[in-house]
Amino acid sequence: MLTPLYFDILRTIIYENTGIVFEEKKSYFVENRVKEHMEELGISSLKDYIFKLKKDKNILRDFISKITVNETYFYREYYHLKALAFLVQKENFGFPIRILSIPCSTGEEPYSIAIVLSEVLINPLNFEITGVDIDKNAIIKAKQGIYSKRSISKLPSQYLKKYFIEINNERWQIKDTLKKRVKFYEGNVLDRIFLKGLGKFHYVFCKNLLIYFDNKARLKAVNNLYDITAEGGYLFLGHAESISNSTALFEPVKVEGTIVYRKVTEEEDEEF
Ligand SMILES: C[S@@+](CC[C@H](N)C(=O)[O-])C[C@H]1O[C@@H](n2cnc3c(N)ncnc32)[C@H](O)[C@@H]1O
Repeated sequence: MLTPLYFDILRTIIYENTGIVFEEKKSYFVENRVKEHMEELGISSLKDYIFKLKKDKNILRDFISKITVNETYFYREYYHLKALAFLVQKENFGFPIRILSIPCSTGEEPYSIAIVLSEVLINPLNFEITGVDIDKNAIIKAKQGIYSKRSISKLPSQYLKKYFIEINNERWQIKDTLKKRVKFYEGNVLDRIFLKGLGKFHYVFCKNLLIYFDNKARLKAVNNLYDITAEGGYLFLGHAESISNSTALFEPVKVEGTIVYRKVTEEEDEEF
């Protein structure tokens, strides 16, 4: 049984390394993951395990992989893909259009974006998509691009035929032509230096992550994303993740019936 003290030490490690806040009621979840990890490592004392977590980056990465929630699927929150399709045809950012999906989990979101853009852009070489997630195992799966029935259940069947190879009745693999359009990296949205190294993006998808953060981590993430969003670029957040009350860096705009956030440039800000 995880004592309150040990739970507190573990959730502090999680928060400092990911921004994710675990409340007391989630103690059992952390406990189960820790137990499983300790068994895998052959460690029987919690004190030794915590010592290893703090000292060994690879053990920490494995732990983070265990406690992250990777829930995602193709064409999730389709209204945002529709808004993106509208914007790429209306805005004139020049080419290639650069899109970031952070967190990308196992890849369904960036590949969905790649499908939509392949359908609406005349030249498929006109876009570059980057997927980033803190979970190293999610990134390995994203690079493999093999998906279950559950992952593709919302994907229109014509796109399944066009962009996937059927391995068997249960599994489909993304075709290489689409795979080449997406680059994946293990990384943290709170790591400013890492993010800056990726360059600037015209569209940033940061969906279903900030909901797990507290205000401090949320603001840090939004500040980091502001820095890597191109002038006039757009931020897409999950439906429960409004930032309009906490920052003026992005302004909400309605696109195709949904809210997305447009980067407020320094000049625009000075007008007020
Ligand atoms: C629920 S999934 C969201 C995936 C996708 N954006 C979607 O909406 O379907 C949340 C992901 O956030 C990742 N994550 C958690 N903390 C992170 C951080 N600090 N930086 C980057 N990714 C993080 C997790 O590994 C997990 O894959």
